[in-house]
Amino acid sequence: MRRRGGTRPESAGQDRLGPGPESAGQAEPGPGPESAGQAEPGPDTPVRGDGPADAVSCAGLVYAFGETTAVDGLDLAVRDGEVFGLLGPNGAGKTTALRCITTLLPVPAGRVSVFGHDATRERMAVRRLLGYVPQQLSADSGLTGRENVTLFARVFDVSRRERAARVAQALDAVGLGDVADRLAKTYSGGMVRRLELAQALVSAPRLLILDEPTIGLDPIARTSVWEHINAVRAATGMTVLVTTHYMDEADQYCDRVALMHRGRVRALGTPRELRDGLAARRGNSGEGEPPTLEDVFRDVAGSGLDDRSGDFSDVRSTRRTASRVG
Ligand SMILES: Nc1ncnc2c1ncn2[C@@H]1O[C@H](COP(=O)(O)OP(=O)(O)O)[C@@H](O)[C@H]1O
Ligand SMILES: [Mg+2]
Repeated sequence: MRRRGGTRPESAGQDRLGPGPESAGQAEPGPGPESAGQAEPGPDTPVRGDGPADAVSCAGLVYAFGETTAVDGLDLAVRDGEVFGLLGPNGAGKTTALRCITTLLPVPAGRVSVFGHDATRERMAVRRLLGYVPQQLSADSGLTGRENVTLFARVFDVSRRERAARVAQALDAVGLGDVADRLAKTYSGGMVRRLELAQALVSAPRLLILDEPTIGLDPIARTSVWEHINAVRAATGMTVLVTTHYMDEADQYCDRVALMHRGRVRALGTPRELRDGLAARRGNSGEGEPPTLEDVFRDVAGSGLDDRSGDFSDVRSTRRTASRVG
């Protein structure tokens, strides 16, 4: 499991996101001919006419890898300013959905928009609005913390004049100011995750997208990652879209959650609404422990949870990254 050294996983580069032309052609073709003639809103037309657009909107999103339909008609609306948790077991389709939202994958069917900008037609506009911390390692262990964040500042066109200050600010925001000039390979797993957070924050995104930000971390490091996310969010008002399989974490830190299973949202609400809903369905017998979010998930996913999709414990092994650098 534990690999050392500075070599990157082959897939890490695919998840680099930047508005610059060097990354434009990486993961996907442009809008296909099938979308060219459709009567869709123009580039600057918000998706909804009534008030400000949602931070993220997915309607009928479908994405298949060959025979495997990873995302199967996903409908999702993340409101401006909220912390939204996309929860689900390994293989539910969370990462694939996020990669469509970040424009790293195309949108073969359905529509995706970010603050009213269409992910297919306005890819660069979408990229400029968001910061993305992928599930795969994105920090370079052979560079210092400051160098890693500076790299992202350059990719995201942070002006040369502002760059040093913005990099220092991002590192301070995640509590790495004092160790900024140490090589990332000397960082603990939790510090690496916070470094990746700083990389995503340096462009001052309106939407921060985090894929399993706390996977593999001990409880103290997990809390620290969340506290830094919350502090930045409180200071900037940015929207946070996060995937996690830690239901307790989602319960504590997310304003609303969607429970995803087999490519689709099966339940949506505040953690409390979902827990109370299950308690009501159980008939409020007053016996036993009140339901947890994990109980809610088991209830909506039914017996299908344990066959094809695995359960929550095996998701822990999917992030092979935090320990690799530390
Ligand atoms: N690059 C890929 N090639 C083929 N199948 C993939 C690929 N990425 C993901 N899948 C499949 O798509 C489904 C959803 O995966 P993923 O989006 O990674 O789920 P999650 O992030 O919820 O664990 C799984 O069945 C997975 O095996
Ligand atoms: Mg994933």
